[in-house]
Amino acid sequence: MNVLLIGSGAREHAIAERLARSPLVTRLVATPGNPGIARHARLVACEGTPAALADLAQREGADLVVIGPEAPLAAGAADEMLARGLRVFGPSRAAARIEGDKAWSKAFMRRHGIPTAAYESFTDLAAALAYARAHPVPIVVKDAALRAGKGVTVCANADEAEAALRAIFDAPDASAVVEAFMTGQEVTVLAFCDGERFVTMPPAQDHKTIHEGDVGPMTGGMGVICPFPLEPDVMERVRREIIAPALRGLAQEGSPFVGVLYAGLMLTPEGPKVVEFNCRFGDPEAEAALPLLESDLAGIVLACAEGRLRGDLVRFSDHASAVVVMAAPGYPGEPARGVPLNLPTLDPSLEARVFHAGTALVDGRLVSAGGRVLAVQASAPTLPEALGRAYAVVDAVGFEGALVRRDIGFRIGARPAGEASLVGAQDV
Ligand code: GLY
Repeated sequence: MNVLLIGSGAREHAIAERLARSPLVTRLVATPGNPGIARHARLVACEGTPAALADLAQREGADLVVIGPEAPLAAGAADEMLARGLRVFGPSRAAARIEGDKAWSKAFMRRHGIPTAAYESFTDLAAALAYARAHPVPIVVKDAALRAGKGVTVCANADEAEAALRAIFDAPDASAVVEAFMTGQEVTVLAFCDGERFVTMPPAQDHKTIHEGDVGPMTGGMGVICPFPLEPDVMERVRREIIAPALRGLAQEGSPFVGVLYAGLMLTPEGPKVVEFNCRFGDPEAEAALPLLESDLAGIVLACAEGRLRGDLVRFSDHASAVVVMAAPGYPGEPARGVPLNLPTLDPSLEARVFHAGTALVDGRLVSAGGRVLAVQASAPTLPEALGRAYAVVDAVGFEGALVRRDIGFRIGARPAGEASLVGAQDV
């Protein structure tokens, strides 16, 4: 089977690594890809519009198109593939509104009784300010449009809420969601979906702020532990009260969801509630979960695209996985580009990987080319061992000024353990 993978992040590197090892995949092409993905796929440049991506899929004779990021999904890339008779793993534009339009998404949750924080949405600054002032702080202000994980501000007081709302409404045609702040542990549950059926992946926990202790501005995600120790009865509630009604609701409203549904959840005293839905694999959640996948990712995504997903197609190892993101100085603001990167050669017995995110080859040298640059992943029988291995690899990466959170796993009290031995040769 010829597969076209769309995307260029560490998430797509993790997807490419799994697809490339599938006996079902004879040829893997990626666009635009990155130097890490290039180890598993032939990279092809493409303008990136839905029509150009579908042209590329047809030119490459793709039997299946896997769409990684939210932007092409929100732009209608999956619809364009389907209109041309191509098989695609990724939701339609209408179904992708569950991420792409946060005001629509909250209204969808309200319509289908899916537990989430109390909220209102606004297209008008004055009304949003009045609502924010009339409700208790902390309060959460969200840009309703896609902002690569950086459109959410937790506001400690009314001044912060005002600043966040003014920043959103500086843009034309803006809309905002203002919602109650929820407390508790945050957890991500990803589910493979075929439009009707779903199979969940092991729960994961991301660390979204740039600084340790959950301080500082939001990022796309700075590190993940997987699995997060979610009690089986809570996981069952997530399936029954959140994933199932979302999938059913989308199908009932004429937009069946094919792809990965991402449920970002808060474990509140009343039970799990949705912080946000996303319409694709999490990043860096995918980098943590996919290395634990024992069954064939290509077989799973093909089954989803063909509407024949079954639970026995999806099997994860019972090991633990940790991801530590290395970001460029300046992130989540303007990141430094062109910083030289030296990656260690890793002993395969270490069960560790360095997934590329914002990297580029310039004159044959690997350099930083984005905010999140590398996602270092390690698996081990226990989470402390996985964290120990991941941090050992982080320490062996040559990357001047890298921003790294040293507290991944802190919310459940997990600390790195174990001696990890690395082979020190430099390799780009
Ligand atoms: N890790 C957060 C996200 O993928 O949106």
